Amino acid sequence: MISVDDLQPCETTPPDSRWRRIVTPIPAPESIPIIRRLRKVEAYSNSGMPPILWNEAEGFLVRDPYGNQWIDLTSAIVMANVGHGHPRVREALHHAADTKLLATYAFPTEIRLELLEKLVAISPVPDSKAILFSAGTEATEAAIMLMRRQGQKIHPEKVGILSFADGYHGRTLAAGLASGVAGSRDWIPRKSVRHYQIPFPFGPTCSSGEGPGHHCDEQCFQKSLALLEKHQIDPELIAGFIGEPMPGWATWPMTPSYAAALKSWAEQHNILLCFDEVQSGCGRSGKWFATEHVGVVPDLITLGKGLTSSVPVSVVLGRKHILDEPTPGEMSSTHGGNPLGAQVALASLKVLEEEELVLASAQTGELLLAELQKIAVHFPEQILSVHGRGLLISVHLRKPGGCEPDIELANLIVAESVRRGVLMFGTGRGFLKIAPPLCIDPDAALEAAQVILDCFHHCVKKGS
Ligand SMILES: Cc1ncc(COP(=O)(O)O)c(C=O)c1O
Repeated sequence: MISVDDLQPCETTPPDSRWRRIVTPIPAPESIPIIRRLRKVEAYSNSGMPPILWNEAEGFLVRDPYGNQWIDLTSAIVMANVGHGHPRVREALHHAADTKLLATYAFPTEIRLELLEKLVAISPVPDSKAILFSAGTEATEAAIMLMRRQGQKIHPEKVGILSFADGYHGRTLAAGLASGVAGSRDWIPRKSVRHYQIPFPFGPTCSSGEGPGHHCDEQCFQKSLALLEKHQIDPELIAGFIGEPMPGWATWPMTPSYAAALKSWAEQHNILLCFDEVQSGCGRSGKWFATEHVGVVPDLITLGKGLTSSVPVSVVLGRKHILDEPTPGEMSSTHGGNPLGAQVALASLKVLEEEELVLASAQTGELLLAELQKIAVHFPEQILSVHGRGLLISVHLRKPGGCEPDIELANLIVAESVRRGVLMFGTGRGFLKIAPPLCIDPDAALEAAQVILDCFHHCVKKGS
């Protein structure tokens, strides 16, 4: 994350651009008292973003109240897939607000029916059912609960959950356990609640030592199993696996060979698979679901974020018998499938289809990736790898001579690019995350890549 003490305005040069407009020092002096007031009343954990006061966001542009405008590479943290404030999304919001039906809990409504029919129609899991929630983390909780309940039907102690270290699934209890890396700051030790992790198969840092060109395969999965065995974890007592088929942090799809090995091991031990597509879903990876890159069909899929590009709606999709196991009252949420969220999700899915944004994500993503990869040619010492699919791309920085992430340089580049009119956020983990709205004009995406290259020239020179 960017340093939260960074409220010192820096002089800027107005960019010569159709899209970027920077007319004040950054952070804008007038925004500073407001940001300070916000920080005074809001928990510290929410202060890690670049100090830009959002006033308007439209399409792939973000504006503050002082005349500055950025090309947005954040999508408000990989959420605004159809673009910010899409007219059809706003129309759906107006329409929903003008009906005399704002909330229903689980009472039947036609709008919820329409959305659920759409979701099961596009689900890669055959014969799917679905249930709606609000936040992505709620979908994670429900998916983990469903997998544990299925496990218990086989053996009372078959409740273990396996996930990838470094992944992210949300902040609630089960989601928090599935995320990150086990460590001393864990507020609940994972093993005591039968939560286990294996490394994510990330080629550039895989223990195979082959470097950025390596694509983890079946052998890498077998090595992970050896780790489980070493810790005497019995797969017969694992109920489910949750992982991102293309994790937000790595933007590196699980390979079909690795996924096939995972699936066959899971089948052998009656372990269910849940792919978390809260971030990678809804066209972000250049396909409707990142699952489609991976070549195996999971039992459950979670979606959120890009499902509405605005208000909170999430979903668990998956095999009928798993979704139907809890009885009425055992799995529900007050706002899940509320008429407003349902209307907006439907509108958003229609925009993705009608504006062919999944194809746009694939095509613009390919252009942008090629352009960003050129940066690695200029800075081979500082860049470990540039990769991604669709508009979910990352530039992994390293300290020269090894693979250790260069968090400081990544933060400097983010801060400099914000001063030049390209909005990114600090990941705090030594990589740049590039995830613009899928509707970004390809020329704007290329311009943003050029700005990032300029920032490397500026920051590497300054840092060395
Ligand atoms: C892959 C993944 N799963 C789950 C979540 C949690 O979603 P939410 O923040 O809506 O709870 C996120 C959020 O970033 C995510 O990226």
